[in-house]
Amino acid sequence: MKKVTKAIFPVAGLGTRFLPATKSIPKEIMTLVDRPLIQYAIDEARAAGIKEFIFVTSRGKGALEDYFDHAPVLEQELRKKGKDQLMEVLKNTNMESGAIAYIRQHKALGLGHAVWCARRLIGNEPFAVILPDDVIAAEKPCLQQMVEAHNETGGCMVAAMEVPQSKAGAYGLLAVEEDNGSLVKVSGMVEKPKPEDAPSNLAVIGRYILTPKVLNNLNKKHKGTGGEIQLTDAIAEEIGGKEGVYGYRFNGERFDCGSKAGFLQATVSFGLGRDELRDELWGYLQELVASEKAAQ
Ligand code: UTP
Repeated sequence: MKKVTKAIFPVAGLGTRFLPATKSIPKEIMTLVDRPLIQYAIDEARAAGIKEFIFVTSRGKGALEDYFDHAPVLEQELRKKGKDQLMEVLKNTNMESGAIAYIRQHKALGLGHAVWCARRLIGNEPFAVILPDDVIAAEKPCLQQMVEAHNETGGCMVAAMEVPQSKAGAYGLLAVEEDNGSLVKVSGMVEKPKPEDAPSNLAVIGRYILTPKVLNNLNKKHKGTGGEIQLTDAIAEEIGGKEGVYGYRFNGERFDCGSKAGFLQATVSFGLGRDELRDELWGYLQELVASEKAAQ
C-alpha cells in the first residue's frame, strides 16, 4: 500500500460564525494562546509523516500564505538582537520550498467541492484531509493514530467520536456494521440528519484518509444536504466496495474551534497546558468561579 504523504487543508470557507473578525482575517489565522489554528494542523500533519501540504483557499486568505513564508526583515532583526529562542519559534512556520501548494476554490460550494479542487495534485495515492478548525489535543497526534490504523485497513477512514444526541444533527453520522472499539466498519453515512434519521451518535470530525476513488466520486458534483457538495456523500459511495470505509475513535480531546464556545474552551485548555501560563490562568479561573458562586 502507498504511504500517505499528501494532505489537503480546505480553508476556503467564509467563517461567518466569527464575523466581524473574519471580514479581514482568515479563521485559520486566529490564535490559540500564541499559535494560529493552522499551525496546530500543520504540526499534526508533520507528525503523521505528511510531506506535501495542499491548501484550498479563497479570496482574502493571503495572510495564510504570508504566515508560511520567510520574514527576512523580522528574522534579521531577531538575529541582530540575539533572540535565538524567538528564531527557533519562527522555524516551525517555515516550509521547505515546493512542499506547500495553494489552489483556489472560486465559489464556496461545499467541503466536497473544496477537496475536489485539489484533485490534480493528488494523483493515484491515498491522501489525508485536515480541517484546521477541529483542533485535537492528544498525546499521539490524531492523524498519526489514523495513519497507523490505516496501514492495517487500507480503504477510507474518518475520525469519529460520540456526540450528545442534542448536537448529533450538526454532524455527519455513521451507521456501524462492526464495532471493534477504536475501529468501526461503516455501513452508512448521513450528513446532518434529522433526529429521526440519525443512524447513531457516532459523528465524523475533521480528519480523513481517503482513496483517489473519492475524488472520482466528487467529479459528479452531486449536491447534498444544504445544497452543498458534501465530502461525506462521496465517501459513502465507497461503502460496500472492495476497500471499505472505517471510522476511527481516536484518543484525545477535540475542540470545535469553528464555533465561539469551542474556541474559548480550547483557549482555556491550551492556556492551562502551558507551564508559563498555568498558575496565573488557573488562579484567575478559580477567582471567577468563586465570585460567580458568591453572586448566586
Ligand atoms: P464550515 O462548515 O466550518 O464553514 O467548514 P466555514 O465557512 O469555515 O465557517 P462558518 O460555518 O461560515 O462559520 C468546514 C471546513 O470546510 C472548509 C472550511 O474552510 C472549513 O475548514 N470549506 C467549507 C471550504 O474550504 N469550502 C467550502 O465551500 C466549504
